[in-house]
Amino acid sequence: METAVKRIGVLTSGGDAPGMNAAIRSVVRSAIKMGIEVVGIRRGWAGLINGDIKPMDSSSVSHIINRGGTILYTARSEEFRTEAGQQRAANTCKLLGLDGIVAIGGDGTFRGAQALSKYGISVVGIPGTIDNDIVCTDYTIGFDTAANTAVECIDRLRDTMQSHERCSVVEVMGRHAGYLALYVGMSVGATAVLVPEEEYDFKRDVAEQIRRARLGGKTNFQIVVAEGAASAVDVGRQITEELGLDPRITILGHIQRGGCPTAKDRVMATRMGYEAVKVLAEGKTNRVICSNDDKVFDMDIEEGLAMHKTLNPEEYEVMEAMSGT
Ligand code: F6P
Repeated sequence: METAVKRIGVLTSGGDAPGMNAAIRSVVRSAIKMGIEVVGIRRGWAGLINGDIKPMDSSSVSHIINRGGTILYTARSEEFRTEAGQQRAANTCKLLGLDGIVAIGGDGTFRGAQALSKYGISVVGIPGTIDNDIVCTDYTIGFDTAANTAVECIDRLRDTMQSHERCSVVEVMGRHAGYLALYVGMSVGATAVLVPEEEYDFKRDVAEQIRRARLGGKTNFQIVVAEGAASAVDVGRQITEELGLDPRITILGHIQRGGCPTAKDRVMATRMGYEAVKVLAEGKTNRVICSNDDKVFDMDIEEGLAMHKTLNPEEYEVMEAMSGT
C-alpha cells in the first residue's frame, strides 16, 4: 500500500487486558509490511509525555502473541488529562516525527486519543479491556480470556460448594458494566446474577432464586455479582440474615486480567491491529476500530463514544429464565 505515513507510535493505556500483546505484535508487523516504521511508547500516555520510547522491529514482538499483560507497560496518567500534558505529548510526537499513534485501551484511552488529535496528531484507538464496555463495538480485546478465567475459577468453586452443600458468592470485575458478570454467570449456570444495568431487589433476585433452587432439589448455589452492582461481602451477609446459610465469598479481582489470551482474543487483536495501521496509512484520524457481526471496521471516536450501549436484552432474558434453577 502506498502511504504518506512514515512513522507511527503504539501504546497501551488503562487497565491491561489479555491480547494487548497480540495487538502490539499485529500493529508492528502490519506497519512493517506497509513500509511504516514503528516506535513503542511505554507506560501509556504518561510515556508519550515523557518520551519513554522503545524501538520496535519484527523480532521485538516475537513470542508475545501468547503472553498476557503488555510488553509496553501501561499506566493511567493524570497529567495527560490536562492541556499542558496533552501539549507535551503532542510535542513528543513532533520531536520523534510520529505521523500517528495507535492507542490500545478502554474508553479513557480513547478520550486521550481524541484530546491528542486536537493537536494535529493522527490517532486510532483499538478497544482493549476485559469490561467489554466500549459503546461502539460488540467486542473488546481481553473479554473472552477474562470470561474464561472467571468461568474456570467458578467451576472449581462449584466442586467444593457441591461437596459441602454450600452457597458461593463470587464478585467479578467489569467496573460500571455487567457484560462480564452476565456472560460468566450464564456460562457457570449461576443461581442468580446481579448486574449494574438492572436495579435489583435482594429478596426477589437473590433470596427467592436460592429458595426456588433449593425447592427444586439443589443444595449448592452460585451467586455471581458484578463489582459495579454490589459487594459480594454485603450480598453474602444478606444471604445469612435472610436464609440462614453460611456462604463463602470470593472476589476474583485481578486474576481476571492475567493469563494467556484465548484464540478468540488473539485473532481479534491481530485483526484490529492490522485495521488500525491500515486506517492510519489511509490518512484517517480520530478513529476507533470496532467489531460487530464478526466484521472489523473503523468509526469516528467521538461518534463511537457518544453511542449508548446496553446489555443484550435477549441474553438478559435468558439469564433470568435460568435463575433459581
Ligand atoms: O477496566 C478494567 C478493570 O479491571 C475493571 O474491571 C476494574 O474495575 C478496574 O480495571 C480495576 O482497576 P485497577 O487495575 O486500577 O485496580
